[in-house]
Amino acid sequence: MIGTIFLLFFSISSFSYTSASLTHCHPDQRDALLEFKNEFELRKPPEFFEEITQGDWTWVNVSSYPKTKSWENNTDCCYWDGITCDSGVVIGLDLSCSCLHGSFKPNSSLFRLRHLWNLNLAYNDFNASSIPTRINELMGLQRLNLSYTSFSGKIPTEILHLTKLVSLGLSSSTFKRSQSLLSTEKPFLSQLSQNLTNLRQLDMSYVNLSSEIPQMMISNLTSLRSIRLHGCNLFGRFPRLSPTIRSIDLSVNPHLESSLPEFNGRKIPSSIGNLSHLNILDFGYNNLAGEIPTALFNLTKLSSLSLASNQFTGTLPHNITSLSNLNIFNAASNSFFGTVPSTFFNIPSLESLDLGDNQFSGPLEFGNKSSMSKLQRLDLSKNNLTGPIPTSISKLVNLERLDLSYLNTRGPLDVGIFRHLKSLQQLTLSHINTTIAIDLNAVLSSPPKYALDLSGNYVSVENMSSVSTLSSQLMYLFLSGCGITVFPEFISSLQYISMIDLSNNSIKGQVPAWLWRLPELHYAELSYNAINGFKEFPKDVSRTMMTDLFHNASTISSRGVF
Ligand SMILES: *[C@@H]1O[C@H](CO)[C@@H](O)[C@H](O)[C@H]1NC(C)=O
Ligand SMILES: *[C@@H]1O[C@H](CO)[C@@H](O)[C@H](O)[C@H]1NC(C)=O
Ligand SMILES: *[C@@H]1O[C@H](CO)[C@@H](O)[C@H](O)[C@H]1NC(C)=O
Ligand SMILES: *[C@@H]1O[C@H](CO)[C@@H](O)[C@H](O)[C@H]1NC(C)=O
Ligand SMILES: *[C@@H]1O[C@H](CO)[C@@H](O)[C@H](O)[C@H]1NC(C)=O
Ligand SMILES: *[C@@H]1O[C@H](CO)[C@@H](O)[C@H](O)[C@H]1NC(C)=O
Ligand SMILES: *[C@@H]1O[C@H](CO)[C@@H](O)[C@H](O)[C@H]1NC(C)=O
Ligand SMILES: *[C@@H]1O[C@H](CO)[C@@H](O)[C@H](O)[C@H]1NC(C)=O
Ligand SMILES: *[C@@H]1O[C@H](CO)[C@@H](O)[C@H](O)[C@H]1NC(C)=O
Ligand SMILES: *[C@@H]1O[C@H](CO)[C@@H](O)[C@H](O)[C@H]1NC(C)=O
Ligand SMILES: *[C@@H]1O[C@H](CO)[C@@H](O)[C@H](O)[C@H]1NC(C)=O
Ligand SMILES: *[C@@H]1O[C@H](CO)[C@@H](O)[C@H](O)[C@H]1NC(C)=O
Repeated sequence: MIGTIFLLFFSISSFSYTSASLTHCHPDQRDALLEFKNEFELRKPPEFFEEITQGDWTWVNVSSYPKTKSWENNTDCCYWDGITCDSGVVIGLDLSCSCLHGSFKPNSSLFRLRHLWNLNLAYNDFNASSIPTRINELMGLQRLNLSYTSFSGKIPTEILHLTKLVSLGLSSSTFKRSQSLLSTEKPFLSQLSQNLTNLRQLDMSYVNLSSEIPQMMISNLTSLRSIRLHGCNLFGRFPRLSPTIRSIDLSVNPHLESSLPEFNGRKIPSSIGNLSHLNILDFGYNNLAGEIPTALFNLTKLSSLSLASNQFTGTLPHNITSLSNLNIFNAASNSFFGTVPSTFFNIPSLESLDLGDNQFSGPLEFGNKSSMSKLQRLDLSKNNLTGPIPTSISKLVNLERLDLSYLNTRGPLDVGIFRHLKSLQQLTLSHINTTIAIDLNAVLSSPPKYALDLSGNYVSVENMSSVSTLSSQLMYLFLSGCGITVFPEFISSLQYISMIDLSNNSIKGQVPAWLWRLPELHYAELSYNAINGFKEFPKDVSRTMMTDLFHNASTISSRGVF
């Protein structure tokens, strides 16, 4: 009986091997993959950073898991995580975010996977090793993604032999901020334009290109749709763009004189209106000046526009309804003036609007048709806007981040208007010049959940010993210069608080003992107060908590870092 079962099993497995062996993983492919797996340790990578604006870095939340961990020799490699096969041959290897750690071997067994057409190794840590020159042996590659891999050194020109490439990602990673790990020889972009003529997508952000963009790059690369050269140390003039381009990101190249064709000096030309397929345009941080041509506001396909941190001036048109697909508009840190067009709030697709740090004036208006608003981020800070926050803000129900600092309200703050903003996570209302003190208890009895900044306003914290459950998740609390005289007791109930700023108040007495017991607190700014000691000296100095007590009563040493 047992023998029969065994024989039956054996015959089925041998049958499937002989008749279907072509669709099974070839042993040479399997062995190459297993050896490649063993060339690396598995380790959760360090944090990845990305520069959003010049000098302003954000942490990229990459959820990694070790795909190769489940690869076992006794199973069919075509079914392994990250593998795509064709007739038993590996044609796709997607090991992005797979916790690979270690130097990439120049003779890695990867190069035995001769038939690869898609290779994605993004978000791993190759320990500042070089991109191997043997990459050119993977002649069939159509998609190559080595972005965020911590490769360093010169990008080998062998990569330019991969003439079938349609998509190339070489965005240089930054475990340490503002460190350009990859660079190229001068003629790299010209050579790329001659060889990689099938490219549709190119991302070489943070690679130190240190060159001009050759005109040939646009005329030869007729298939190019998306180009991202953020922070590449580009200079010179930008060549005439092809109308087929859909996405351009040339931000953070401060030496780029003129970022688009036919720029008159440092201005945007009206001919930009000819780029009718454009849907992403990023001019941020480029020293451009002048007014924005109205033609730009005619581009119906445009879905993301950044003009941030230039020297643009003029007013924004009120008839911008043509931008019916716009989802991001960032004009922060320029010299725009006039009123903020309320038509922005009628664009149904708009998710993020940043007009901070300009010279907009007059009262705020959010229009009347904002009930369908998708707006998640709104920044109108540091302008010359006056008057109350309109109650119609409660129609922006999807708001997550709101910054209205330096709004000259000249009246009381009606805290009730935030009650309907259930998604609000960050609320910044610093220096809003209210006529009566802001009742913190009332602010905290509705969202925000994570961050609140009321610095530079009179804030009353009286009779507050704890907070409502709504605000118990607060992580960042900024109450600098709020006229506070006693150490606010309610902070002891904020179990998730990570950073507090109570500087520039008139807080007297001792630092309470419970402060050191807040489990998540990393930083407490207590400078410029009248604090005269500690209730209890912190015992656990191993915690990375920093406390700044500069400029307090003389009994405390000037700066305490624990
Ligand atoms: C996988 O197993 C086969 C058969 O047992 C063996 O020949 C081969 O060397 C193994 N491969 C690796 C990389 O261990
Ligand atoms: C980061 O990712 C983790 C895991 O996917 C998630 O739990 C967490 O909420 C994310 N954090 C942010 C700030 O997006
Ligand atoms: C990382 O690189 C350093 C310096 O080249 C080397 O000493 C170390 O062994 C490498 N670590 C791994 C895991 O490859
Ligand atoms: C790769 O080169 C190293 C020495 O540089 C050698 O020890 C190793 O055996 C080589 N591996 C393969 C797969 O050729
Ligand atoms: C362009 O590709 C061809 C064919 O692969 C190669 O021979 C040539 O060296 C490449 N040019 C550069 C500059 O790498
Ligand atoms: C590279 O892969 C990462 C992770 O999958 C992805 O976010 C990025 O868009 C890819 N880049 C290119 C140019 O395909
Ligand atoms: C690219 O452009 C250059 C100069 O215009 C030209 O010499 C070269 O032949 C072009 N290459 C291709 C493949 O179109
Ligand atoms: C980029 O390369 C240029 C020329 O090689 C060099 O002068 C410059 O210091 C490099 N910049 C960075 C940030 O590495
Ligand atoms: C913008 O569109 C309007 C209406 O379609 C048109 O009259 C105007 O000429 C366009 N302006 C430019 C500069 O293209
Ligand atoms: C918007 O108004 C400006 C000035 O009034 C005008 O030049 C432009 O053509 C208008 N655009 C549209 C799309 O109506
Ligand atoms: C701000 O607005 C007021 C009137 O609302 C005006 O007097 C003042 O000049 C404006 N300041 C700037 C810098 O535009
Ligand atoms: C604050 O508002 C008052 C009126 O309530 C006004 O007189 C004062 O100029 C405002 N302060 C600033 C800095 O604009």
